[in-house]
Amino acid sequence: GVLLRRLWTGEASARMLSPRLQKAMRDYVRANKHGVRFRGRLSPRSGGRSLVPATALSQLHPACAVVMSAGAILNSSLGAEIDAHDAVLRFNSAPTRGYEKDVGNKTTIRIINSQILANPGYHFIDSTLYKDVILVAWDPAPYSSNLYLWYKKPDYNLFTPYVQHRQRHPAQPFYILHPKFIWQLWDIIQENTKEKIQPNPPSSGFIGIVIMMSMCDEVHVYEYIPSVRQTELCHYHELYYDSACTLGAYHPLLFEKLLVQRLNMGSQADLYRKGKVVLPGFRAAQC
Ligand code: C5P
Repeated sequence: GVLLRRLWTGEASARMLSPRLQKAMRDYVRANKHGVRFRGRLSPRSGGRSLVPATALSQLHPACAVVMSAGAILNSSLGAEIDAHDAVLRFNSAPTRGYEKDVGNKTTIRIINSQILANPGYHFIDSTLYKDVILVAWDPAPYSSNLYLWYKKPDYNLFTPYVQHRQRHPAQPFYILHPKFIWQLWDIIQENTKEKIQPNPPSSGFIGIVIMMSMCDEVHVYEYIPSVRQTELCHYHELYYDSACTLGAYHPLLFEKLLVQRLNMGSQADLYRKGKVVLPGFRAAQC
């Protein structure tokens, strides 16, 4: 309804969220679990190529797709369009098998949060989802980015399974994002937002978009800003309904999306019909 149209035009605000999501936001601000202290000193331009890990991730591609896991991608028939990109990024445990028509089946990079590594329910060790792709893992570290503190007490223990996986598959590119990268992205979102955002890391979706902007001349993002198919269905592969998945509770998701909406170079028709945003790679960006 109203909020969706405001997202398309970039005029959305937290005041338009449901009372439940507004309360969740206030509670996260009060808890400030990661010790965020925003000083507004970082420049919005610090999110460039140098922040992103080297080698496998520094290869440049002409056109890349970022496929969000949102329920709204169901019945989109976007699969063939997505697979036509040079590189495709997917998230966490989002499958392609059985959903090829809507999401495609090519995966170049998969971004996984530390829960995927730490929680045996995701079968990180034996699932084919995590084979033959570049893996990028992250964990909500303290805002101070003190690596010693983080290593001793990660949000979910990703380090043990990471080392195990590296030993078993030494040839597979597998990175852990530096907490500084994640929190610099958070600073950029807060600097570009009039409202106070949740003091929690950006969503995997935003992290993935920035990584692809550093690797690609052009990035096509699907169902981040919702299309007309917008739904409370959280993921296309799971029967679970929660508007927080699309609008945010823990993550500053609404504000991430408003920033991405401002960068969109694609057509309004593609935004409504496909949930498609077109972004320039950092190499092509005019700063
Ligand atoms: O839930 P998960 O983090 O695995 O989903 C990947 C990303 O897709 C999220 O981090 C978020 O940026 C995006 N997403 C969304 N709307 C949804 C579900 C996911 O924008 N309903």
